[in-house]
Amino acid sequence: MSQSSVGRGLRVAVYPGSFDPVTYGHLDIIHRAAKQFDRLIVAVLNNMTKNPLFSLEERMELLRQVTGDLPNVEVDGFRDLLINYMEKKQAHVIVRGLRAVSDFEYELQMASTNHKLSPEVETFFMMTNPQYSYLSSSIVKEVAKFHGRVTDLVPPVIEQELRKKYAVKS
Ligand code: PNS
Repeated sequence: MSQSSVGRGLRVAVYPGSFDPVTYGHLDIIHRAAKQFDRLIVAVLNNMTKNPLFSLEERMELLRQVTGDLPNVEVDGFRDLLINYMEKKQAHVIVRGLRAVSDFEYELQMASTNHKLSPEVETFFMMTNPQYSYLSSSIVKEVAKFHGRVTDLVPPVIEQELRKKYAVKS
């Protein structure tokens, strides 16, 4: 029996987010978190209010394509309170990436709310690789919208899909 399967059973972590679209910053967190847990569920929020560029299905499909080499990573969608989703998945760890101090307040608020709703669930923060500390899905979309180069910011398949979304229609 492995160390990790003693006690609480299989260590399942959930990495929730909008992933509109997934960036190299997210992927860095996914790769590193996948090494720390037995199973990592990348959970994509179907957020009606955010008016995403990519549909839930597109975001999930793209995530599946770029995490296909990681056997303990799976991609799922949710439209619920995160804490309810955690219970459904029998998961006790939420993984979030922290890029800069500016992320902290929002993340603290979310982690504290989730803790209040379910003290059993812990939020684990991982510092984003400094190489990607400036990176966000919004910045990527901004650059792509004006036909800038996003090669170093997202995997090739995402770049291709961004090009399609922002193609000039004649
Ligand atoms: O990538 P994002 O947009 O920063 O991710 C935010 C996300 C999806 C983790 C957060 O908005 C969330 O968990 N939403 C689900 C609704 C919920 O549980 N809200 C209460 C926590 S404050």
